[in-house]
Amino acid sequence: MNHKLNKIRQILVAFVLLAAVTGISSCEKNSFILPVVDPGTTWHFQVDIQPIFNANCTSCHGGAKAPDLRDGKSYLSLTNGAFVNTPGETSKLYTKLTGSHLSRATDTERSKILGWINQGALNN
Ligand code: HEC
Repeated sequence: MNHKLNKIRQILVAFVLLAAVTGISSCEKNSFILPVVDPGTTWHFQVDIQPIFNANCTSCHGGAKAPDLRDGKSYLSLTNGAFVNTPGETSKLYTKLTGSHLSRATDTERSKILGWINQGALNN
């Protein structure tokens, strides 16, 4: 009888521990976690970054509003205007996209832009 009670107690303890662990890890889902884009990928400005600007930015940043993000203008506009620097997390471009412009790009697009900046923001 005592043996059975011990077993039940053990199961209860295990259950409570499991609930606690699940509870703790589920909290993390609410924090801001960048999605995984392969950290080994080399990002190319023309192939990976400019299309993000074309799709999400040039409707407003089409010349009159800095930075000018139109194809052929964007690279010089970003570098001359000091919008990109390393670490990319501190750059004007990235902080804008994680701040008031959060809704203007997806998490994946943000990660690509951050990766490109941290790889030296090359005109590649
Ligand atoms: C609906 C219009 C609109 C769209 C779309 C838009 N922006 Fe902007 N953006 C603005 C306005 C207006 C400002 C200036 C006011 C401000 O800083 O919020 C601005 C400011 C900025 C700045 C800071 C400029 C400075 O001088 O500090 C950056 C960087 C920027 N945008 C990048 C982007 C990027 C990258 C995208 C696309 C992913 C984008 N914007 C899409 C309207 C837009």
